[in-house]
Amino acid sequence: ALPHDLSGKRVVVTAGGTREPLDPVRYLGNRSSGRQGYALARVAAHRGAEVTLVAAHSADLVEPAGVRMVHVGTADQLRDAVLEASDGANVLVMAAAVADFRPVSHVDHKIKKTDRDPDALELTRNPDILADVIEQRRAGKLDTDVVVGFAAETGDPDTTVLEHGRAKLERKGCDLLVVNTVGDGRAFEVEDNDGWLLAADGAELPIPHGSKSRLAARVWDAVAARLGGNVG
Ligand code: C5P
Repeated sequence: ALPHDLSGKRVVVTAGGTREPLDPVRYLGNRSSGRQGYALARVAAHRGAEVTLVAAHSADLVEPAGVRMVHVGTADQLRDAVLEASDGANVLVMAAAVADFRPVSHVDHKIKKTDRDPDALELTRNPDILADVIEQRRAGKLDTDVVVGFAAETGDPDTTVLEHGRAKLERKGCDLLVVNTVGDGRAFEVEDNDGWLLAADGAELPIPHGSKSRLAARVWDAVAARLGGNVG
């Protein structure tokens, strides 16, 4: 049986990939399926948490039972939903793949094909939601106890990926960071995952290859340990 070590805890999980519109039919997107975020939400609910799942575009996944769903499209919408849901939450897990850039403008009619070469696509930066949350916490506006980020990196899992993960954890200022190796058919659009769970206090836990639910369980173990109290 699963421990009910998250009962009474309010948690927010993000999942899926944002889509940044170019026109009514086209967007800039990414390969996130949402599976890891959905697994995190499902496992947290099983372990007694009150869960809000902020879902950007995901594969056709079953909505986890007993979880409050908030569906969003763009990074901006995800940001608003996260900031609203995080108010009063104990834990935030940012598993969504948020677009770093969006088109400067999007038009309300379908962009036509013409005989001349297309214009270059002008992009602008999206807000870094994880960084914003950490900044709000530092400013005393949010009191989320544990903030978890995800990082998808390419390279050798035990050297390059781990180094990038450590650097990112420091840069982002979150409490835990799950680092996944991507590329070569890993992590995105597949059932299984692996990587490292890094903590701001220096702890470093390899996560063996396995289901996304098992990875989720490892993450909640680490979160529960940091929440203290009712750790089962
Ligand atoms: O810097 P990078 O995009 O690799 O960081 C990934 C982490 O930051 C993920 O937890 C992701 O959800 C979050 N993120 C964010 N806002 C962005 C980009 C990424 O919150 N604009």
